[in-house]
Amino acid sequence: MALDFLKIPEDNAVRVAGDALNKQVAAIFEAVGTPYRYAQITADALTSASMRGVDTHGVTNVVRYTESILAGTFKSPQEIEVISESDTTALLSCGWGLGHPAAHIGMEMAMDKAAEHGVGLSTIRDGHHIGMVAYYAMLALDRDMIGMAMTNAGPAVRPALGRRAMLGTNPIAFAAPAGEEADFVLDMATSTVASGKIGLARQLGVPIPEGWAVGAEGEPLTESPADRGEHWAQNPLGNTREQGAHKGYGLAMMVDILCGVLSGGGYSSFIGSGRNMSFAMAIDISKFRPVDEFKEMMDEMIRALHDTPTEPGAERVLVAGDPEEEAVQDRKANGVPILQQHYDAMVKISERVGAEVYI
Ligand SMILES: NC(=O)c1ccc[n+]([C@@H]2O[C@H](COP(=O)([O-])OP(=O)(O)OC[C@H]3O[C@@H](n4cnc5c(N)ncnc54)[C@H](O)[C@@H]3O)[C@@H](O)[C@H]2O)c1
Repeated sequence: MALDFLKIPEDNAVRVAGDALNKQVAAIFEAVGTPYRYAQITADALTSASMRGVDTHGVTNVVRYTESILAGTFKSPQEIEVISESDTTALLSCGWGLGHPAAHIGMEMAMDKAAEHGVGLSTIRDGHHIGMVAYYAMLALDRDMIGMAMTNAGPAVRPALGRRAMLGTNPIAFAAPAGEEADFVLDMATSTVASGKIGLARQLGVPIPEGWAVGAEGEPLTESPADRGEHWAQNPLGNTREQGAHKGYGLAMMVDILCGVLSGGGYSSFIGSGRNMSFAMAIDISKFRPVDEFKEMMDEMIRALHDTPTEPGAERVLVAGDPEEEAVQDRKANGVPILQQHYDAMVKISERVGAEVYI
């Protein structure tokens, strides 16, 4: 969910209905030869991010993914392959195509295994960007399961006490169903922020807060750099030694081990920019206790947290997933705000590949 200073400015944006965006994205992918199902999965994942206010990982990414397909950097059609499998585990290859379909299939396999054996795990190698990781964890909610998804990424983040980027922003998503309350959906980079927020600040021409990134000598940056390189690095969650940078750093390595080392696809400083090796896990709640009782306790826990007295100046205490749920309500009613330049780029790429324009 966007911080206030990163909100898409309405005076330079077009509001478009989620359904039209979904149709547009799928049509563009199909026009460049993506099989129907993979085009649909990717369109659903990108639209879900846009509806949830995670604009950096939403529908406008169709432009760069399509350019990668046209340039041959993304294989199309790709071959998603199960390399090895057991009752509870699966290792897949994404076939160096669009990342979203393989991550989706990996989660589906994990859920099918969990339905039978209580838990299912998958790792996926040879992959490209999978976008908003919550999308995969949330697939478990419809099956009354707990879902978890992670991905590593190319080097962008310094280790604690270091000054060169060695780790990806390596996000973790965890989704657990509630009953009457909104489901718990934590989706967080293990760096202070996802790289997309630094890029968005540059596009909007606004400074970034101290603590998000440092320059080559470790000095805090407040201007988003134009490109990646050794001249800067993002901070791990915690930023400084005193504030716990070693914990964000440790979590990023944990993600890298589950996604990159376990799959054999490679760890962050080994894989190139734009690549994602990923991991998914599903837990079948009913194998532990009745689902209704689980959800009732989730509701109680969430209400207790919502009822916490606020710190000075705060309106209310939230639970992970609340800000995104609020965005969904707004965007269902009013459409998704798309920055004018991104809207124009989506129309242009549709025309270039011969897809009908729906937006
Ligand atoms: N594919 C990739 O390579 C990649 C890499 C990094 C990040 N990402 C994605 O980038 C997106 C943004 O990541 P981010 O770390 O900048 O997210 P963020 O900081 O915007 O949000 C992190 C989490 O905090 C929760 N949250 C926000 N305010 C809260 C509050 N007051 N109380 C309780 N919870 C609150 C949100 O619901 C969310 O679950 C995510 O969707 C992530 O999956 C993808």
